[in-house]
Amino acid sequence: MENSGNPARPVISVLGLGHVGLPTALGFAEMGWEVIGADDDAGKVALIKSGKSPFFEPGLQPLLTKHLETGRFRLSESVGEAIRASQVVFVCVSTPQKEDGSADLSQVEAVARNIAQNLNGYKLVVSKSTVPAITGQWIRRTISRFAESYRRAAGASSKNGSFEFDVASNPEFLQEGKALENIFQPDRVVIGVETDQARRILETIYQPLKCPIVVVRISTAELVKHAANAFLATKISFVNMVADLCEAVGADVGEVAKGLGLDPRIGRQFLQAGIGFGGSCFPKDLRALIYMAEEHGVDCGILREVVRVNLRRTRLFVKKIQKALWVLRGKTIGIWGLAFKPDTDDIREAPSLKIVKELLGEGACVRLYDPKAMANVQRVLPESAAQVTYCQSAEEAARGAAALLLLTEWKEFRDVDLASVRSAMDVPLLIDGRNFLDPHAAIAAGFEYHCVGCAVATDGIK
Ligand code: UGA
Repeated sequence: MENSGNPARPVISVLGLGHVGLPTALGFAEMGWEVIGADDDAGKVALIKSGKSPFFEPGLQPLLTKHLETGRFRLSESVGEAIRASQVVFVCVSTPQKEDGSADLSQVEAVARNIAQNLNGYKLVVSKSTVPAITGQWIRRTISRFAESYRRAAGASSKNGSFEFDVASNPEFLQEGKALENIFQPDRVVIGVETDQARRILETIYQPLKCPIVVVRISTAELVKHAANAFLATKISFVNMVADLCEAVGADVGEVAKGLGLDPRIGRQFLQAGIGFGGSCFPKDLRALIYMAEEHGVDCGILREVVRVNLRRTRLFVKKIQKALWVLRGKTIGIWGLAFKPDTDDIREAPSLKIVKELLGEGACVRLYDPKAMANVQRVLPESAAQVTYCQSAEEAARGAAALLLLTEWKEFRDVDLASVRSAMDVPLLIDGRNFLDPHAAIAAGFEYHCVGCAVATDGIK
């Protein structure tokens, strides 16, 4: 692969083919760009090259098949080769959490060094990973420093490393389970740039989407992403706190959320009460933002509370189960849903798994079912004759159970015949951790129905 260097039709490389990188790469291919994907994980690259998506995301598999065929999406086993063959390099590597809550940026640094080593013409280096607000500066500094030392090592006459480059930030706002929808119909594209050339290139790349493009400084773009996630997580913890109040005074959090959300200043989204937020983003990004703010002497107490409220959600939910079921030891509990949210097989920081582990700790037996995440759960929680059974369907998970818990709101759970589920159970107790099922239908099917933030549904008055 060679760097064709045509600024009107830049070749794009996407480094890191995870939940952000792979949809992003295929999104660019669908917009008409020539894209090279690369990842340090050779097994993942081989799998994608063979036409298989390494994770479930609606619409991703057909898009992968399509663009391997059109040739607009190619894979490279070598990150360096992908850098050399492209003019625009999107950095989509992970920024995992360190013990102290800060972001581990070692993968970002490794990519910056790799770029320095492979500068063979102008490059625009765009960070898509969620990073603290001065990372762009560090990427620029790292590329400059290492490009210079690689050039010296290669001999003073070598041109290697003496080429220009720009750094930019273009945070991703995609949600797992809706990644392609978010890519093709974004509310906005935020680009943080330092030069006109970088701005022009990114505006050209995103031009096919015809959406608002917000052009800002790099550190501003980086902060927009962290602040957006922190604000959305705050809405969730806020509504969960309101849910507890609702239970205490006999109100209904769904109706309170409706009354709140119709005010356009508040908005209806992300006011769904339940067992708390999980996933690879909110918990990690909140801690990283708090760490960064406190490093700068900024008081982030409000975000510490958001984390604290969220951490308590699973314990409170287990207490709710105990209140409804009394003793947990030896009881069989059916579980509907394990992924951290529907339409994904991702179980990172899934509140459902924390609940399952607490139930096992209390001596309960669980019958687990999730439409997509079972294989991932089996890797961290092996089947055991004594306590853990994996089931092939929602109905099977309920068989012989003394309680049924809905922990992830997969659409298929709404289509289950509740009356037959009820008759397969030992005790018709249904605890809905996502307020997803119709309480009237559950009660009509013979269930004692409990949900979050609504005391009235339990006794059928509603
Ligand atoms: C989140 C953001 O929504 C994206 O905009 C962002 O790009 C992404 O993080 C990221 O940083 O990469 P994601 O974690 O995929 O996306 O999923 P969300 O839909 O935000 O859900 C996160 C968690 O909040 C889930 O556990 C979900 O069940 C929970 N949630 C969401 C609620 O408990 N209540 C709600 O009302 C909404």
